[in-house]
Amino acid sequence: MTIWYGGDYNPEQWPREVWPDDVRLMNRAGVNLATVGVFSWAKLEPRPGEYDFDWLDDVLDGLHAGGVRVDLATATASPPPWLAAQHPETLPVTEDGVRLSTGSRQQYCPSSPVYRERARRLVERLVERYAEHPALELWHVNNEYGCHVSHCYCEVSAAAFRTWLEAKYGSIEELNRVWGTAFWSQRYDSFAEIEPPRTAPSFPNPTQLLDFDRFSSDELLACYRAEVEVIRAASDVRITTNFMGFFKPVDYWKWAQHVDIVSDDTYPDPADPVSSAYAAMVRDLMRSLGGGAPWLLMEQSPSAVNWREQNAAKSPGQMRAWSYQAVARGADGVLFFQWRQSQAGSEKFHSGMVPHGGTDTRVWREIEQLGTELRDLSGGEGTASLSGSRVPAHVAIALDWESWWAIEQPASPTSVSYLETLFAWHRAFTALGLVVDFVRADGDLSTYRVVVAPAHLVATDAQLENLAGFAEAGGTLVVGFGTAITDEHLHVRLGGYLGERLRQTLGVWIEEFAPPAAPDLRARGGGTPPPVPLTGDIFGGDATGSVWAESVRVEHAETLATFTGGALAGWPAVTRRAAGAGHAWYVATLPEPAALGRLVSRVVEEAGVEVPAAVANAGDVEAVRRGEFVIAINHGRQTAVLRLEGTDVLTGAPASGLELPPQGVAIVRS
Ligand code: GLA
Repeated sequence: MTIWYGGDYNPEQWPREVWPDDVRLMNRAGVNLATVGVFSWAKLEPRPGEYDFDWLDDVLDGLHAGGVRVDLATATASPPPWLAAQHPETLPVTEDGVRLSTGSRQQYCPSSPVYRERARRLVERLVERYAEHPALELWHVNNEYGCHVSHCYCEVSAAAFRTWLEAKYGSIEELNRVWGTAFWSQRYDSFAEIEPPRTAPSFPNPTQLLDFDRFSSDELLACYRAEVEVIRAASDVRITTNFMGFFKPVDYWKWAQHVDIVSDDTYPDPADPVSSAYAAMVRDLMRSLGGGAPWLLMEQSPSAVNWREQNAAKSPGQMRAWSYQAVARGADGVLFFQWRQSQAGSEKFHSGMVPHGGTDTRVWREIEQLGTELRDLSGGEGTASLSGSRVPAHVAIALDWESWWAIEQPASPTSVSYLETLFAWHRAFTALGLVVDFVRADGDLSTYRVVVAPAHLVATDAQLENLAGFAEAGGTLVVGFGTAITDEHLHVRLGGYLGERLRQTLGVWIEEFAPPAAPDLRARGGGTPPPVPLTGDIFGGDATGSVWAESVRVEHAETLATFTGGALAGWPAVTRRAAGAGHAWYVATLPEPAALGRLVSRVVEEAGVEVPAAVANAGDVEAVRRGEFVIAINHGRQTAVLRLEGTDVLTGAPASGLELPPQGVAIVRS
């Protein structure tokens, strides 16, 4: 089966004479998929209702003649300036009331009926013209929904928000109840009085904020689905839109049901030492969103990006290593932004597969090498089963966008980064060599041995029933701090935080929060809260926690670690209880990485999850099983010696004793 290789191809930025050269070079580099037309609306429809497809015909025909398949974009990601000139109300507005202008990209209000109608007409024309084109492999709807404008606060959005609320609540009384508007004189007399949560004198209503997050994600999804409907009516070709890893504004669990293949854009920062670990988590999410099915790395950079404060180039071999990381964690394609590095425009300093310097460059050589390898892997004897194959996981982390939105709202017990909390848990498992899936708390958990629910603040009864039921049916449930404090309306579950259902399963309840805090943090504008001291055999002795701490009241559980300092001295920090046929753990803080690592080792050991034997003599080797292969990648700075049995299909060399240099990769059939 094919491993897709290629990238965003923007031929409209170049004279026609360059196009044949593009196809020639694509062939040289093993490119088999080009994403075309992402930002072409202004060229495809230079004036309202006047379309020009001739140039795109030539591009697609040229690619087809060269054997390159096409991921055809619907071009709706950036409307031409004429749309705003004719309909200024299509421009989005920020929460401070600033109307965003043309001259950049993505300047549309997602709720705008005018934008949606114009986008629909364009998609109809594209589908009419290209649905039967022989080069067509995939439809690429829009681009990175919400990347720049995820929430719009204009009058059009306000009206759409009211309609959404009315459909959800039915009556203003019900909205008042759910939003808790008895507080601060917020009672509404009619839906007409409701505004989006624009900048206000003090804390906005939390449920209003949460509903606006839900609404905003839904509005973008409605834009996507409207385009899908047009395409589906005339074409059976698969449809995708590119996700952006852990992108807070958009609830990808809802979206994933509507794509035929999950695709993702990931730009790890080469200057950040945790990038490989973080990227591993992103790839695990992409696989999980598709229920374990292969996904596409739709965009990454060949080397540097241009949108950070400081834009480090990828080190030699790093692009290849990170590409194989995606493949190891389930990707069936490795694509880039973009094919030819731009000569003009705001991305001219963003690397491209064909760099400004041409083909006698490091970047090009690495692009060519990887493309050649992937081509051989796709067709190579005995290796065809890599693409299409699955990545088994016995451990899962519950991920919940609503909890993410809510736990980071203002007026909370302390500032928690939801993502950093998830990342801490994910790293603890991956450090043991375990692959982690992400799951919905109310999804099917039956294939896992261990499920962790960290900071799952907003929990429905159904989610709690599912989590508790997982433990009682024989699984090991680990609940982290900040979980199940409220229901889906952000109403606190009374009678002890955690709520009744988890209280029964975990055998504990939470009396009070006591997060670590720096003195006068707000008044002095910052400071690092001191760590909370802990002790317990589970940590191998003394340790520290951060971010959160609380008074845990134990009813029927064993205390495995305690807080040892301050007001919480002597209170439980980690508990465990035999619950039905399984076990339920509670962790009341975020233990430092080494301590969390020890805790996680115990959890998986007790749960009977087999920890893979070390594959190398160095700690920075990531090794992931996919199908019949183990893909080993050295992210460290020292050469590692592999201890795997089998053959490296990249070189044909025996894997045992194989030296893997920094950024080295081996694909071992074992
Ligand atoms: C995103 C966009 C691309 C490009 C890259 C640059 O992923 O989809 O159009 O702007 O960022 O990194």
